[in-house]
Order: sequence, then C-alpha cells, then structure tokens
Amino acid sequence: MNKVLILYGTRYGTTKGISDEIEKVIQEKGISTESYNLKEYNLKEIPPLEEYDGVIIGTGIKIKRWTKVVKKFVQKRKTELKKRQSTLGFYVCCGVASKKSDISKAINDYITSKLQKLGIQPALVDAFGGAYDLTEGSALTGLTRKIVIGIMKNEEGIENPEGKMHDYRDWEQIKDFAHKFGELLKKD
Ligand SMILES: Cc1cc2nc3c(=O)[nH]c(=O)nc-3n(C[C@H](O)[C@H](O)[C@H](O)COP(=O)(O)O)c2cc1C
Repeated sequence: MNKVLILYGTRYGTTKGISDEIEKVIQEKGISTESYNLKEYNLKEIPPLEEYDGVIIGTGIKIKRWTKVVKKFVQKRKTELKKRQSTLGFYVCCGVASKKSDISKAINDYITSKLQKLGIQPALVDAFGGAYDLTEGSALTGLTRKIVIGIMKNEEGIENPEGKMHDYRDWEQIKDFAHKFGELLKKD
C-alpha cells in the first residue's frame, strides 16, 4: 500500500483547508497519508522522506514569500527532496492565482524559480487561489486587515468587504491536483 507524506505551512488557515481536501481525495484512493502542519512540529520530528512513496508540500504566500516553516524544511531537506522529485508535489495558495489567467505566473514566481535555485524539480506543481477572511474575530487583524480591506475596495472594486469571507479557492482544481498526484504514484 502506498503511503504519502503531506506537509503544509499556513498563516491564516487557507492552506490547511487545501491540504485537508488533497488528503481526503488521496485517502479515497486507498492510499494512506500522514499530515503535518509544519508550524506545530520540530523539523527533526518529520520522518525521513524515504519512508514514503510520495510527498506533497504546500504553502501560503505573503509578500511574495513562502511560510518560514516551509522555507526552512525545503532548505534543510533539499537532498532528500531531490531524490524524491519524481513523486513530489508542490503547490502554493496565493492571491495571484485567484485570477485563472495568472496561475502560470504564480507557479513560475512562487514555485519554479524558487525551487530551481535549490536544484529541485517537483513532478507536479500548481498554484491555487487564496482566501481573505474578513469575518469578525478572524486571524486577519490590525494594519494587515486594513491593508487587505483597502486592496479589496480599490483594486477589486468590492464595496463592503468587511465581515465576509472572500474565498477564491477552486475546489475542482484542488481535487484535480490530488487525482494527478495519485496517478504519479501508479507510474512510479
Ligand atoms: C498581508 C498579506 C500579504 C499577501 N501577499 C501576497 C503576495 O505577495 N502574493 C500573492 O499572490 N498573495 C498574497 N497574499 C494572499 C495570500 O496568499 C492568501 O490570502 C492566502 O490564502 C494565504 O494563505 P494562508 O492562509 O494559508 O497563509 C497576501 C495576503 C495577505 C493577508
């Protein structure tokens, strides 16, 4: 039976939702999974990658950057990741990919160009639209919240963004990624 390691980094929880959906689809294929929110673990606690048939890594993007935990993991474990790249999936969750026509730009700017520098070429990559949670009591607070509201009003033309969840995640695209990953494992 195949076993897949699922790792993610999130600041506001959006990528966790994506990771959970990918995990569900993979499990439905009869493949076992282990999932880690990298923020909750010491990197040494993540088992050797050779114990798995495949690895999926996902991260949210803020000011063009991955989460610190994903950056650290990829840098520290790059030799193992290079060995695993034929069954390595990598995705980002970001604002740029909320616009379908900009998905390839997001893949290039936030995945390919960054991983190329480390010599890692995952077999499967994708960029998913993100979310901005402006409901009361959400993790988006202070100045960041004000900036997001300003962008939504001025750039997106949304009149009253406050109090709402603005979710641009495309669940069909996310499921498709998980299906394609399942196919990779069959080939390997
Ligand atoms: C302060 C802030 C900065 C952001 N910067 C970027 C960015 O540079 N590029 C981008 O594509 N998306 C950007 N986003 C959108 C996030 O990637 C999106 O909200 C995503 O859902 C966050 O994922 P997370 O909740 O898993 O951290 C930004 C969002 C916030 C709140």
